[in-house]
Amino acid sequence: MEEVTCFSPAKINLGLEIIGRREDGYHDLVTLFQSIALYDKIIFKIREDGKILLSGNDPQIPWDQNNLVFRAVEVLRKRTGTKHGVEIFVEKNIPPGRGLGGGSSNAAVTLLALNQLWETGLGRLPLTSVAAEIGSDVPFFLTGGLCLGLGRGEQIKSLPEQRKWWVLLVLPDFSVSTALAYQEYDRLGLSLTSTDKESKIIQFLETKDISLIRYFKNDLEAVALRIYPQLAEIKQEIKRSGAELSLMSGSGSALFGLFFEEPEARSAAARLAVRYRTRVVATVNNEEYKRKLGTGASPNW
Ligand code: C5P
Repeated sequence: MEEVTCFSPAKINLGLEIIGRREDGYHDLVTLFQSIALYDKIIFKIREDGKILLSGNDPQIPWDQNNLVFRAVEVLRKRTGTKHGVEIFVEKNIPPGRGLGGGSSNAAVTLLALNQLWETGLGRLPLTSVAAEIGSDVPFFLTGGLCLGLGRGEQIKSLPEQRKWWVLLVLPDFSVSTALAYQEYDRLGLSLTSTDKESKIIQFLETKDISLIRYFKNDLEAVALRIYPQLAEIKQEIKRSGAELSLMSGSGSALFGLFFEEPEARSAAARLAVRYRTRVVATVNNEEYKRKLGTGASPNW
């Protein structure tokens, strides 16, 4: 029986600007995705009886048709017409519902691994369109590293790494629903970022001026901080500990601080660990990302 083990890395959004509301209910974004060294592990075993078996070590996650990994298997089977089956086990380390993209990453790694195991041979473009059908964040995880995300987040442009950051993650004990965060954003009538004038992300891409990173924002933060005031306290504490940037990732609930040096990040983490769950991880560039996926999932593009 053929079997492969892959790592499935998390992400943070270094910035997330909402620039438009769309007819299809989604929002147009300008965002910067950044891979980080926090990984789930996934084991794939090919099955010739056509069955899809999915399980994992976290009982709070549904290991059924609602799981993005299951959706990835089904959509890839439909798109390619293959009759192969698979048994998948996910060892979770990325906390779900925290804006760190764990589910989307698992789905993307599943597409990459099965495209090899099943020998379905999809190239980058068709695989990206399958990924976008599963979720807005899934295409990013086919590439990894530092990427600009446009559209609903599914249009990805790989960017050269500017520098390695040390990331302090603060992980609240509650999760936030992405759909609800965007709904609340609309309900509260929060104003959109107008790209040409205001976007610090666009200015950063044009000038490569890394000091602009201090001004990056996440438009969903205002929503989450209103619902969960303790997030505002965490943000302030991360700022006070000397981070270059203190921000929420995605739709939350995780917040992060960016530090130039590891010891600074670790001492900030030690201070915050008295009250919160924390992790310190490095950012991961595009080459490290591909290596980390493992030979079973690393794409040849
Ligand atoms: O694409 P995904 O299924 O991850 O999105 C979850 C929900 O988040 C969507 O149903 C939509 O309500 C909201 N969303 C949005 N605009 C985006 C991405 C997600 O409104 N760019």
